[in-house]
Amino acid sequence: MAEQREQSELEGLIIPNHVAIIMDGNGRWAKKRGLPRNMGHRAGAEALKEVLESCVEFGIKELTVYAFSTENWRRPPDEVHHLMLLLDYFIDRELNRLHKQGVRIRHIGREEGVDERRLKKIHEAVEKTCHNHRLVLNVAFNYGGRAEIVDAVRKIVEEGIPVEDITEESISRRLYTYPTPDPDLIIRTGGEFRLSNFLIWQASYAEIYSTEVFWPNFGRTDLLAAVRVFNERERRYGGLHSSPA
Ligand code: IPE
Ligand code: IPE
Ligand code: MG
Repeated sequence: MAEQREQSELEGLIIPNHVAIIMDGNGRWAKKRGLPRNMGHRAGAEALKEVLESCVEFGIKELTVYAFSTENWRRPPDEVHHLMLLLDYFIDRELNRLHKQGVRIRHIGREEGVDERRLKKIHEAVEKTCHNHRLVLNVAFNYGGRAEIVDAVRKIVEEGIPVEDITEESISRRLYTYPTPDPDLIIRTGGEFRLSNFLIWQASYAEIYSTEVFWPNFGRTDLLAAVRVFNERERRYGGLHSSPA
């Protein structure tokens, strides 16, 4: 019964191929409950588990989540440390399950500045799941959109690419996200209307959806609501109609 209901909820909906999420509002979620911010981050990791399952169920092919930005190092050392440990725990506890579900894990972000042991753990998760193709999970960790563009430009210069060969395509190919296609839908929880240095190149024609819901409270129903709103949008890509006349 439940399965039938779920099927009909999705019927006729265009499912975005690539959804990217700015998982914001953990701290405020905790504060509202009189809890330390770190508890909010812990609850946020739980929310990610549910959302991942819903992505698989909905048939979303790529999910990119903003887990830690290059600017988040500015937070108090205790919070940064907790976020680092949370990534370790998430990999330790969830890797096998994700692997069984057919999730391919990828890391997008700078490796420089990340602890060697943590990097090794990330590489292991990436390698173990590299042949899965049900859902690609891009984890934006130590990620900054500007840093990503700087790194792409550095690669172009290092490779000695001639000026006339520098195109949008040649830049895209050198971003961390390559070969993931650009996001169709970017969701920001926690009520803000900014990208906070997330996928700034790739977001050029993404539909943006902001919800007041704090990330730890975000679940299947909220994802479905975002997909429904996405279905109401008309993507024109600078033209006049979403489909040629
Ligand atoms: C998002 O939640 C998680 C990270 C940035 C790592 P916040 O910690 O930014 O939560 P708020 O925005 O302070 O509520
Ligand atoms: C964006 O949230 C980063 C992540 C969700 C990892 P922030 O809380 O860091 O963004 P600002 O500070 O509100 O722009
Ligand atoms: Mg925030």
